Amino acid sequence: MATAAVLHSRSSIDSLRSIRSTATNRTTIHNRLQKALPTKDRDVWASNEGTKPQALPARFADLKKRLVKPEDYDAVRASWDRLLLALEQRVQVIKTAGPMAVPVVDFTEIQESNGQFPVEISDTIRAAGCCVVRGVVPRAQALEWKASLLSYVDRHPDIRRIPDDLEPQIYSTFWQKAQIEARSHPAVIRTQLAISQLYTASEDTEVDLVNQALYADRWRVRRPGSAGMFQPHLDNGSIERWEDEEYGRVFRKIWEGKWEEYDAWDMDHRAEAVMDLYGGPGACSAFRSLQGWLSIDDNGPQCGTIQLLPDIKLSTAYILLRPFFNDQNKLDMDSTYFYGADPGQGHVLKDIWHPHLHLDHTIVSCPKAAPGDYVLWHCDLVHKVEEQHKGVNDSSVIYIPVVPLCGYNVGNLVDQRKAFLEGIPPPDMPPVSSSEGLERDHEDRGKPDHIMTLAGRRLMGLEPFEVNEAGITAGQKTIREAANEALGF
Ligand SMILES: [Fe+2]
Repeated sequence: MATAAVLHSRSSIDSLRSIRSTATNRTTIHNRLQKALPTKDRDVWASNEGTKPQALPARFADLKKRLVKPEDYDAVRASWDRLLLALEQRVQVIKTAGPMAVPVVDFTEIQESNGQFPVEISDTIRAAGCCVVRGVVPRAQALEWKASLLSYVDRHPDIRRIPDDLEPQIYSTFWQKAQIEARSHPAVIRTQLAISQLYTASEDTEVDLVNQALYADRWRVRRPGSAGMFQPHLDNGSIERWEDEEYGRVFRKIWEGKWEEYDAWDMDHRAEAVMDLYGGPGACSAFRSLQGWLSIDDNGPQCGTIQLLPDIKLSTAYILLRPFFNDQNKLDMDSTYFYGADPGQGHVLKDIWHPHLHLDHTIVSCPKAAPGDYVLWHCDLVHKVEEQHKGVNDSSVIYIPVVPLCGYNVGNLVDQRKAFLEGIPPPDMPPVSSSEGLERDHEDRGKPDHIMTLAGRRLMGLEPFEVNEAGITAGQKTIREAANEALGF
C-alpha cells in the first residue's frame, strides 16, 4: 500500500520542503490514503467501544513480525514479565503521590543554571516525562493576555467556538497579539529551550534543539461546571509508532526486549519519523517534541485541568508492547489488535485494554498552575483533561508546544509564516464553514510588530537562522541552512 512514508524523503530537505509545504500535495496524500483506510468512520479519535478493540487488517500482523524478530521472542516475553512487575510497583507510587508525581520547578532555577534545568531536576523530569515550570511569566501579564483574548472574541462573535457557541471552551484564533507575545516571550522561549535540551541528538542528526519552528495552536477558557473534552490519549501519531519505519526505530530497544535501555529523550530517528501516515482529521503536521500550555488562570486539580501519566518509559513500553501480548499475557504475533491506535485517528487508551497501566490511578491531575506557569509534557505521554470542573474559576491556557527545527518541521514553518502574515488559520486547522470568522478580516489581530524577541521572529520564520554559530553540530548547521533556503533567506 502506498503510504506517506514512501512519499517522504528522509534525507533531502528539498523533497521534504516540496512535500510538506504545499497544500496540493497534502491533499493528494490525504485523498489517496483515505481510500486505503479500513474504516468509514472519519472521527478524530479511534473508537473505544467494546471489551476488545476492532481488529486491524491482516497486514498489521506482518508489521508485528517486522518489528519483533523470532530470535527476540524469548527476550520480549521476559521483558513483558519484568515490565508488568515494574508497573505494579510504579502504579502504587503514583497513586500515593497523586499530583505530586508531576515535577514542579521554579523558572528562577533555570535562570540560575544558565538556561538549563539543574541536573537532579532534569533526571526527575526525564523520568516523569512532564513538568510544571512556575513563574515563567508575571501573573499580571498572563491575566492581561487572557483578558485581551476574551475581549477579541467578544468583539468578533463569528470566531469559531469549540465544541459550540453555547458552552465554548476552545477558540479558533491563532494570531492574536496575546498569542504572539506569549509565543515570543523571552522566558517562555528560555523554558522551551531548557526542556528541549533534555533531548539528545547525534552530531549528524538534522535537528536543532535550540531553535524552533512555529506551530500555532489555539487557547482555552473552560468555565466551572463544564465537561472535559479529552479522554486518555497520545498525541504525535498513533499506529505510526509501529508502522512508520523511522518512527519504529525510536523504540528499537523495546522491540528487542530491552525496554530498560529505551531512552525517550533520544532525538535520533524522531526528527524524521512520520507521524501522520494517514492524514487523519486530527493529525498534526508538525513534530512537537513536547506539548505544552501556558497558564492564564489559576488552574489546578478538580478545576478542569490536564491530567498526565507521569512515567514516560514504563507507559511507552507497555503501550507499544501491548499488541504483542494477549489477555493471558502470552506472546501473540498473529492478532491485529492495536488497542486504540487505529490508522488515521487519534490514539486513545482505555482501562480494559490497558489493564496494567491502571489508568484510573496513574493518570493524575497536574498540580496547581497559576497564571504565568508553563506545563509541558513529552510527545509520547498519556494525557487527558479532567472530566469535571468543580472549581469556581475559569481553567484557561494558551497552547504553546515545543517544536524543534528539523526537516519535518521546515515545510510546516513556511506554511505557518504564510498563514501568520495573511491572518488565516494554519493548515491543520482550516475553517469548518464559510460563515466562520477569520482573523484576516479583523484589523485588530496580531501583527509581526507584536513579536517580543529576535528568537520569536526566528521561530516564526521572519529572521534567518544563524548558520555560523560556534559549537553547533553538523546536523544543526545543515538544518539551519535548509530552513533558511526554504524560507527564502
Ligand atoms: Fe493531546
